[in-house]
Amino acid sequence: MNYRELGRTGWKVSDVSFGAWAIGGSWGQVSDEEALGALNTAIDSGVNFIDTADVYGGGRSERLIAQLKKSRKEEIIVATKAGRRLPKQTVEGYTRENLTAWIDDSLRNLETDALDLLQLHCPPTELYSRPEVFAMLDDFVKAGKIRFYGVSVEKIDEALKAIEYPNVQTVQIIFNCFRQRPAEIFFPKAKQKKVGILARVPLASGMLTGKLRRDSTFAADDHRNFNLHGNAFDVGETFSGVDYEKGLEAVEEIRALLPNSQKGTPSLAQFALRWILMFDAVTCAIPGGKRPDQVADNCAASALPPLTPEAMSSIKRIYDEKIRPLVHDRW
Ligand SMILES: NC(=O)c1ccc[n+]([C@@H]2O[C@H](COP(=O)([O-])OP(=O)(O)OC[C@H]3O[C@@H](n4cnc5c(N)ncnc54)[C@H](OP(=O)(O)O)[C@@H]3O)[C@@H](O)[C@H]2O)c1
Repeated sequence: MNYRELGRTGWKVSDVSFGAWAIGGSWGQVSDEEALGALNTAIDSGVNFIDTADVYGGGRSERLIAQLKKSRKEEIIVATKAGRRLPKQTVEGYTRENLTAWIDDSLRNLETDALDLLQLHCPPTELYSRPEVFAMLDDFVKAGKIRFYGVSVEKIDEALKAIEYPNVQTVQIIFNCFRQRPAEIFFPKAKQKKVGILARVPLASGMLTGKLRRDSTFAADDHRNFNLHGNAFDVGETFSGVDYEKGLEAVEEIRALLPNSQKGTPSLAQFALRWILMFDAVTCAIPGGKRPDQVADNCAASALPPLTPEAMSSIKRIYDEKIRPLVHDRW
């Protein structure tokens, strides 16, 4: 596993880290045993950074991580999120009282005295014009309840506004072979300001593993079923907002770029993750994983050699031809 500096925090985190949404909920059933198996495999593979949120399974994801931490000696940095428990996303909901309650609940779930990294969880765009919210986050740092803070954003414009606040350490954004736009404007600016970048949805909700088919089905409690049209949250979080059939076509073109290998490595998932790591502004990719085998597969991407310039330009071409018209100007 390779490690990269996380913003100005002084932490070095695994460039393939772990996204803990699926082990909380909204991805079909995952047992505690499978979830802990996935988490332990991540730590065994050198992962030292886990992304979660208070809303993932109503605190279940955070509680499983607390259980993991108790059973392991390694240092594990946990980034959680707050804001999505508001019944409706309004800037007015981001009060000191609400933030205090959300932070206190995460502290309890994670069984810790201070949150390593608190991220605002895709708040409304208007929030980025409200310095008082960021001043409150500074107060939580001073009070010792959170060590650092950052944001998770939907749109590049939000990311650009967020990094104007001097104490924003990290921006979490969708970045993968199907979402290439953040590299254009945002990455150079974030790098200049030494802001950490967490590349979320790195496998386009599993599509970039190459295992999905036209006739694949998803459980009723899996967002790839219930949020396919954005009925529950931003449609961009499901398959990166790419039309399912068109996404599958593009995946086949990417599969054709895989270097020949007798042992089936790299897998398509590893190839897609290694593509993300080609961008040095990115601190880490945070693939979700429900089972140990998926996590082991993903973590092995860290040690892959760089993609060739030909592979990089082919992935750009596939994006430009097939995916760009579907997503580029939307987020
Ligand atoms: N608003 C936000 O802040 C926000 C939104 C979304 C995600 N996130 C964060 O980003 C993380 C990653 O995004 P994501 O989980 O949405 O999507 P993702 O990482 O692109 O896809 C994860 C899913 O793909 C499948 N998978 C993973 N590795 C695999 C492998 N090697 N082979 C086959 N299948 C594999 C698994 O589901 P199946 O086995 O069921 O296919 C897994 O749950 C989340 O866990 C969360 O921490 C944050």
